[in-house]
Amino acid sequence: MTDVTDPAQAEVVLGRTTATAEAACRFEQVGDPFIIVIFGATGDLTARMLVPALVALCAGGHLPENFAVVGASRTDLNDDSFRERMRQAAVEFGSLPPGLWETLAPRLSYLQVHYDAPASFAALSTYLDQLAAAKTLGGNRMFYLAVPPTAYESIAINLANAGLAEETNGYARLVIEKPFGHDLHTAQVLEEALHTRFSEHQIFRIDHYLAKETVQNILMLRFANAIFEPLWNRRYVDYVSILAAESIGVEHRASYYDHFGVLRDMFQNHMMQLLSLCAIEPPSLFEADLVRDEKTKVFRALRPFSHNDLTNNCVLGQYASGLCGDARAPAYLDEAGVPGDSATPTFAAMRVHLDNWRWQGVPFYLISGKRLAEKRTEIAVQFKPVPYSMFRELFGDHIQANRLILRIQPDEQVSLTFQAKAPGPMCLRSVTMNFNYYQGYQGPALTAYAKVLLDCMLGDQTLFWRQDGVELCWRFLTPLLDAPAADRLFLYKSGTWGPQEAGKYLTAHGLTS
Ligand code: BG6
Repeated sequence: MTDVTDPAQAEVVLGRTTATAEAACRFEQVGDPFIIVIFGATGDLTARMLVPALVALCAGGHLPENFAVVGASRTDLNDDSFRERMRQAAVEFGSLPPGLWETLAPRLSYLQVHYDAPASFAALSTYLDQLAAAKTLGGNRMFYLAVPPTAYESIAINLANAGLAEETNGYARLVIEKPFGHDLHTAQVLEEALHTRFSEHQIFRIDHYLAKETVQNILMLRFANAIFEPLWNRRYVDYVSILAAESIGVEHRASYYDHFGVLRDMFQNHMMQLLSLCAIEPPSLFEADLVRDEKTKVFRALRPFSHNDLTNNCVLGQYASGLCGDARAPAYLDEAGVPGDSATPTFAAMRVHLDNWRWQGVPFYLISGKRLAEKRTEIAVQFKPVPYSMFRELFGDHIQANRLILRIQPDEQVSLTFQAKAPGPMCLRSVTMNFNYYQGYQGPALTAYAKVLLDCMLGDQTLFWRQDGVELCWRFLTPLLDAPAADRLFLYKSGTWGPQEAGKYLTAHGLTS
């Protein structure tokens, strides 16, 4: 028998497990030949995320032999200058292994496209046909909309009118990024526009949090182990706290951010996904619709906020200036592009309940904000204390309860805090058992965007939003979005954990304002 207490052997065990699992790994698959058209090809998202992701997929051997990347945007560029921009992006925002660019560059080309001009899309259609014929690329097409959401509708309409939504010779997939609308109504309007042209199986709604390794690990931890699930309910869990803290401010995105704020930017999507993964029932199979059906049930179980209890259940904040490390950071209101009287929240903490058998009475605390003390995303599952202490004569009645922390980023890890006897005197101490996510693993890892592109190529929608979930989450947040933020908006110093008024939420997570 292998001694897993011996670190050397423990590694062997980890290594063997990994090797077995790798045989069945989805990203071992390589899809069929395809063309990806990236709208917004000269923008930030393409440079920072998509190009490094494509490079990584190419370097990892995840792409088929035949594929092509067509950059499309309003800018007038030729193929060579587009390639040069992409090469620079690959170097600046990712890493470019020697020799790789020579493989990738010939597969890149560029076409100027005006998003509201049908003639541009007719030209695109002809161009794609010619490219496919010249390079034996077949009929699979992905259309990645790395453009502001206001352009989604006209691109989708024009694609469809040019016949590019048809799937007669291969797939036609539309990839969009959050935000999916600005509220329930606009999400429904967008949906109507997309759905009259594309079917649900063709629409890939990205939430890059879902593609994070450690977010995917939540379901593995819960449902590939027998020991956690029996405790994962109202009988043993006191509360669950989900934190997504960022140290950065609004950066260069004020025109977007000030219109959206933290509730739309982080809660309607990433926070709701983290909540659903913590709370869902096990699907019968790890398959897109089965997983998303279970998530939908969680979203349906969200107890609606009533207008009377908003103050008790939600605190909003906005960052004031403060020290971040050694540097003084400006107040949100002094950031370039932010109106001087903006009441946009950059921080929110809320208490949420799920009305179902598993979670009745268990609060879920959700906290997210910008310019907080550090970047940290984690889920804390706080278990209930022991029902009765046989050690009360020795240590008094209070024994610290167990806590399981799933650290999503950075320093990805799972840690369990429990009580143990201190060596020597009859004393109890709290100890922590840590599992570092990359420990003992030398295999390939994929960034969130690489995973997103790969799954889209393979047609796996498990890690993408489905429209019913999008709408349920907008509906849930509507009372908070409709209530004037100014009444509940508190300032907090940059570099702290948030406003004092959020104290009870922060304390639950082990933080102080
Ligand atoms: C994005 C938000 O979706 O997520 C940003 O629009 C936020 O405002 C970002 O900074 C956080 O992502 P990550 O992966 O850095 O936690």
